[in-house]
Amino acid sequence: MFGVAGSLQFGLRVPTAEPPANNFTGHSHTQTNQPHFRMQLPDEAVEFNFQGSVCPHLETWTPLAELQSQHLIRAEQIDGIKQQMMQVRQSIGSDRTMVNPPAKMLPQESGFIDLPSLMLDQYRRKGENSELGRILRAAGKLREETDRVVVLGIGGSFLGAKALFDALSHTHHNELPERMRHGKPRLYFEGNNVDNDSLQDLLDMLENTCVDPAIKEERWGVVVVSKSGGTLETASVYRIMRNELARFYGHSPESLRKRIVPVTGPSGKLRELCLADGFKEDEILKIPESVGGRFSVMTAAGLLPAAVVGLDILALLLGAATMTRRFLEEPFDRNPVLQYAAVNHLLNKETGKNTRVMAVWSRKLEALGMWHDQLLAESLGKQNLGPTPLTVVQTRDLHSRGQQHQDGPRNKVVNNLFVKGTRHAPIQLGMADRNEDDLNSLSRKTLPDILSAAFQGTNQAFADAARPTNDLILPTLSEHTMGQLMQMLMLATIVEGRLLGVNPYGQPGVEAYKKNMTRILKEMPSKGSSAMG
Ligand code: PA5
Repeated sequence: MFGVAGSLQFGLRVPTAEPPANNFTGHSHTQTNQPHFRMQLPDEAVEFNFQGSVCPHLETWTPLAELQSQHLIRAEQIDGIKQQMMQVRQSIGSDRTMVNPPAKMLPQESGFIDLPSLMLDQYRRKGENSELGRILRAAGKLREETDRVVVLGIGGSFLGAKALFDALSHTHHNELPERMRHGKPRLYFEGNNVDNDSLQDLLDMLENTCVDPAIKEERWGVVVVSKSGGTLETASVYRIMRNELARFYGHSPESLRKRIVPVTGPSGKLRELCLADGFKEDEILKIPESVGGRFSVMTAAGLLPAAVVGLDILALLLGAATMTRRFLEEPFDRNPVLQYAAVNHLLNKETGKNTRVMAVWSRKLEALGMWHDQLLAESLGKQNLGPTPLTVVQTRDLHSRGQQHQDGPRNKVVNNLFVKGTRHAPIQLGMADRNEDDLNSLSRKTLPDILSAAFQGTNQAFADAARPTNDLILPTLSEHTMGQLMQMLMLATIVEGRLLGVNPYGQPGVEAYKKNMTRILKEMPSKGSSAMG
């Protein structure tokens, strides 16, 4: 039932003129007043297979069978946890409607669970006056006004947007000529560190490429994202960029408002600053209080940068909403969220696999891996518990970390993330006249053939050494599958929080460095150089 996302119809105006990056059948964007928006999504459900983590039934003792019994989980253990998984799901289901959670459950930021369907529903009813309508309008404004957009944000206010941009845009988007980008601005990410020289490089690039503000190709803008509105890294770089914008376009509030889109929580310093700069309330996009930073990719924090570069954010939300429904409605045996959380949790608890490797089999998914690292580390790394996340990009890292994962300490489970279909036609190796490289025997093989052989070969090598693997399979890389995948990983993380007995929301441990940093900065003499110097 959930393999086919079906057809969704909006009798609404979609305020963008560009086609989405993926052209789903019958999906049209239009500027008329009474358009008919219809989205047909192909059958592209994300799958999860965990056979590589389960001990096979063997009649006779062998050295491999002995290793398997120590390092893989047994089918009975999975059967044994099913009831608990259903209870966890039920309590997560009821918590999302809780009005006043008890103090021990705070912070409670489960708003991300229903957010995708709420956003789509509100858009269907209110159109441009919905949050999604405002996001699309703001993205349209930046596309009309600018050729370069700098996204400022850190942690959850950056990683989701970066994951979407890298996965779904052209790999060399920023280098493409304007006509190949179909008017979509180039996108840069800053404010996610405090690196003097990299910021200066960005400013130099902007100064040298954006000379005449009268020419669209030479104009740039800023999206500033901070839920709290007070994160020092983002706030500092925003102050610098805002001054640069004022220097380039002039100091009038109108010119700033045309080139800046703020995304923030219901209160905080960023909101105050923007209101003082003349932004209207509805020009400041929202991260709802009930949605935590690393769970905020389906808010304007992730959706606005994605829409700026023309990604189909409706398909993304639909994918996420579909995954929430699968999670809430499907039995364990058809529920990828519950299976993923249960298998990874059991491997950790029963066999000590406390390093969680996410092996992405596409370089376009490396940033997704970084996003997942944060999701897992900040959500579950509490009270001396929580798996250690690690992203590897295959086949690149088979030539760096592969040795250790095959032969090193047996503390790892590998979750493969594999995309079955390519966007472009498979590239063949082809014949060579002299065949010095001895590849003529493979001349008819394609790069996807080689990748698939490497994937199967690696899984086989792990299986032969009783090292557990699971496979997350994406039929294609699209907005719809990324929406499913990201929602699945977020849901699985809160399920695992329940299993571990930790609150997956909030990050109290991060506060320690912030307090120290603020104190040290206050004590530091202002001489423009570091206290270390
Ligand atoms: O997951 C989280 O909540 C954090 O990683 C935040 O996203 C990060 O600290 C940035 O916070 P803010 O959006 O308030 O600037």
